[in-house]
Amino acid sequence: MAIVTGGASGIGRALATALVRRGGTVAVADLDGEAAERVAEELRRRGPGHAEAVPLDVRDAAAVAAAYRRVRDEHGRLDLVFNNAGIAVGGLVDELTLDHWNRTIDVNLRGVVHGVQAAYPLLLDQGFGHIVNTASLAGLLPAPLMAPYTATKHAVVGLSLALRAEAAPRGVRVSVVCPGFVDTPLLDRVNAGLPDTPASRSTRQQVRRVQPRLYSADRLAEDVLRGVARNRAVIVAPASARLAARLTRLAPAAVVTAAGIQVRRYLRERAVARAAEARPGG
Ligand SMILES: NC(=O)c1ccc[n+]([C@@H]2O[C@H](COP(=O)([O-])OP(=O)(O)OC[C@H]3O[C@@H](n4cnc5c(N)ncnc54)[C@H](O)[C@@H]3O)[C@@H](O)[C@H]2O)c1
Repeated sequence: MAIVTGGASGIGRALATALVRRGGTVAVADLDGEAAERVAEELRRRGPGHAEAVPLDVRDAAAVAAAYRRVRDEHGRLDLVFNNAGIAVGGLVDELTLDHWNRTIDVNLRGVVHGVQAAYPLLLDQGFGHIVNTASLAGLLPAPLMAPYTATKHAVVGLSLALRAEAAPRGVRVSVVCPGFVDTPLLDRVNAGLPDTPASRSTRQQVRRVQPRLYSADRLAEDVLRGVARNRAVIVAPASARLAARLTRLAPAAVVTAAGIQVRRYLRERAVARAAEARPGG
């Protein structure tokens, strides 16, 4: 039995699909309850496993605890818990408001904390199970124009590794997933429900620059399930992300300098675009 938060779209949906394809039963938990129901219905049709929809806002700790407990009670066990739901926020720090920071922290960090608080006692109780938190490559290196996102994803890596050390002697496994850019609707939902910034309006263009070929969510899901089966602590994919993570470990200062070059280029282009807009008829 598995729970996947953010299961109605992108990486979560691909994980749920891969699990059902392997014959598993999945609770597709998502803020968008209708989309979760559509995904669960499609997965039930395809089989051979089973899926059910769980409308859930991971910002609501009590709701997460109740949902996870209900799933465990109904199915008698909980094998895999993917705390995967997340949002993207983009812009220079001086363009962002406290709302941008708070929303990112509420969903990307508190959402995972709620998932851990809900799942861990259940897994300890049964003496087995695997918590898989989705962070990002931005949890291992600095992603300029995404400072709140970078902060929350570093926190998710830290909490996952600390929990892994605590949980291992008690029979519970913990892994953290750190993908590079993946082709999902997230890239078109940057700052959704929050004020736009020039960076959030040109996300795909910025992304293409740092990672010319986007990875597919289906391929990532296969990498994740392989990493989970091998009980890897940190699952980094694709290969370009593994290289970037390795470079950051070897030469962290150089990676910050390279990120600065990227920002300088962004600022230059933004200045040119603004000058063009300011010209009469521009
Ligand atoms: N797409 C990428 O390039 C990329 C890269 C690295 C990490 N990630 C991480 O992967 C995870 C999944 O992202 P994705 O690309 O599949 O995004 P997505 O936007 O395709 O899917 C995210 C899902 O989470 C749901 N969600 C958002 N807020 C929620 C909330 N409060 N409660 C419950 N569900 C909520 C959305 O409704 C959506 O269905 C996120 O944590 C994201 O940060 C994505």
